[in-house]
Amino acid sequence: MSSNTVKHNFTVSKADRVKLNNHNSMLLWFTGLSGSGKSTLANLVELQLHKKGISTFTLDGDNIRQGINKDLTFAPEDRTENIRRIAEVGNLMVEAGVVTLAAFVSPYIQDRENIKTIVGVENFIEIYVNTSLEECERRDVKGLYKKARAGEIKNMTGISAPYEAPLHPDLEIVTDNQSIEESVEIILDFIIQKLK
Ligand code: ADX
Repeated sequence: MSSNTVKHNFTVSKADRVKLNNHNSMLLWFTGLSGSGKSTLANLVELQLHKKGISTFTLDGDNIRQGINKDLTFAPEDRTENIRRIAEVGNLMVEAGVVTLAAFVSPYIQDRENIKTIVGVENFIEIYVNTSLEECERRDVKGLYKKARAGEIKNMTGISAPYEAPLHPDLEIVTDNQSIEESVEIILDFIIQKLK
């Protein structure tokens, strides 16, 4: 589909934007079960970065699936397409000089590997929000696990669809026995040095 197009290089580069902003840009990718706390953590990390004068934006599964990806289901091939599009959007945002936070279940290892190809491995940080299924189900903030157990939702990650945990995440956050504030601190400590 991309035949007969030629890449145009614009004069203002990513390096120029990074210099203007006075910080690096990157894609912080939060993966984990639904209800694991990905969006909550991304939100609080973004807030702290914003307060430090860092240019940020958050992409989140529940929001994105109501807009640009509203044509996609939770079947495996649609999840793959969901993640591919977000990786492309993330790549544009990183090119724009923005520290981009992405909170998606992204249950397949291969899909997450593909993000690195799109955005560049040096611009990608994988944060595994490791909250047990038992805890996510206990919280059940959106009532989805109850519906999935009742057979009202198909392909529910953790129940009737797989979650392939990262083998070597850049950062693993085990939320079960840790406060949200502690988790946010760990993430900030890890990424702040990389933004310089
Ligand atoms: S992904 O698997 O394609 O990465 P994404 O992060 O965009 O998923 O969307 C996940 C969100 O959609 C969940 O947080 C949940 O609120 C909602 N959701 C609805 N149905 C499902 C399902 N079958 N599996 C997982 N999440 C679902």
